Amino acid sequence: MKRLGLEREVVDPLAYRRTVERCRATGTVLPTFAELAEPWRIPAEVRAALTGIDPDAPDPRNLFRVHWYNDASRRGLAPVPEHVVLGEELTGVRAPIAVLLGDRFPMIGAHKVLAAYGCLAPRLVTGQFDPERHRALWPSTGNYCRGGVAISRILGCHGVAILPAGMSAERFAWLERWVDAPEDIVRTPGTESNVKEIYDACAELERDPANVVFNQFCEFGNYLAHYLCTGTALAHVAEWLAGRRPGLAPFAFVAATGSAGTLAAGDFLERRHGTRTVAVEALECPTLLYNGFGEHNIQGIGDKHVPLIHNVMATDAVTAISERATDALGLLFHSPLGRRHLTERRGVPPRVVDALASFGLSSLCNLLAAIKTARYYDLGPDDLLLTVATDGAAMYASEWPRIERRDFPRGLDAIGCAEALGRHLLGTATDHFRELDRRERERIFNLGYYTWVEQQGVSLEEFVARRAGAFWDRLVDLLPAWDERIRELDREAAAPS
Ligand SMILES: Cc1ncc(COP(=O)(O)O)c(C=O)c1O
Repeated sequence: MKRLGLEREVVDPLAYRRTVERCRATGTVLPTFAELAEPWRIPAEVRAALTGIDPDAPDPRNLFRVHWYNDASRRGLAPVPEHVVLGEELTGVRAPIAVLLGDRFPMIGAHKVLAAYGCLAPRLVTGQFDPERHRALWPSTGNYCRGGVAISRILGCHGVAILPAGMSAERFAWLERWVDAPEDIVRTPGTESNVKEIYDACAELERDPANVVFNQFCEFGNYLAHYLCTGTALAHVAEWLAGRRPGLAPFAFVAATGSAGTLAAGDFLERRHGTRTVAVEALECPTLLYNGFGEHNIQGIGDKHVPLIHNVMATDAVTAISERATDALGLLFHSPLGRRHLTERRGVPPRVVDALASFGLSSLCNLLAAIKTARYYDLGPDDLLLTVATDGAAMYASEWPRIERRDFPRGLDAIGCAEALGRHLLGTATDHFRELDRRERERIFNLGYYTWVEQQGVSLEEFVARRAGAFWDRLVDLLPAWDERIRELDREAAAPS
């Protein structure tokens, strides 16, 4: 399975040596996955050196901030991953919903920077990417390509973002500041679910052997980074909350799926706490749920195929949320009137209302799907639901005026706030929620065949191997092997040449 990046040893010593030289020249140290999962393992002197570094600067030391434990200032370490617990006054359900806040991540203010590191680092330490010869191509609908450009740049590699021209203006503004040259942003036709067009562009660019495509949908480094780092962070929050409220136990992990990297945390939690995993899609593009397709505005998810790194046979339920709900709630939560409505009419604590600034569109989708999960399973106050806010509202400021014009042509007023909240949040029901039995899991698993075997050239044997739990168990063994390679590279780069 070489092309999927599952190497443990150095495959190209020359490429590897160049990475060592580059790290030596720039004084770059790579963090291990174990350190990013539990950042208190990061040596004290490395952590101390970080305090003076701007978390949004292109500085290689920011690699040590690519984890869930950054505090609200994003400079220091929080004892427990930053999160907010949403209660019944906001959600309308009795089960508490704990949401990890992804906007604390460095450089891009979103968790995809972790996925990007998870994909590039293993390739570098096994000599599969040559920083002198290769360009790293990061195809995505927004955050992963920003994460890829950030990680490439601070590691002295040439990064190229490939994304649909219709993504939010904020994403492009960020990219323009970070790429080496304007041609390192490749705009493809369409918007969120036009992933095929991105891959058509990649296929074209890949003809040049200098271009290496980091396809997040089939890079197992994406799965493994989330498995360990996001999984550990969620488990820590669940255990910390349970310590404060005896009887509370995690019931399910709920996450929207783009590349399905984030969903890998569900496998970690299932092993540790026996939780269920609920995968979420946009109702306008319900591929897993109904073999469906379509356009939507929940940026970052829903790409009309089943990712190779999705452990479908371990997924317990699939549900879908409409973009109309995430659009309307995004507008409501970020307008002063809507926020006042929440505090004054619903009694939502101001601290919680403030935290809603950390909810981008897919984060709202996760929240609504967690509410559906609570309703479907009829959960009570002891059943904890876990999810993530992948990015914050800062990435979507340009969206709100368009949504307001469309949904509230006379402007958002108090009645509009009540209407949006009643319809899109408190009225959340169990429609478009499917608990998966063996047959349903197989249906979804089989759907992936057409993308991966027929179109992307993955062998049938490799494809089918993923049906067994043992495949995913063995995959996890790569993490200590990669960490050992990272330590070795760090040792060599620190030694005099
Ligand atoms: C904003 C946002 N939400 C959700 C996701 C989905 O995460 P994953 O690709 O890990 O499934 C992404 C992925 O790019 C994203 O950018």
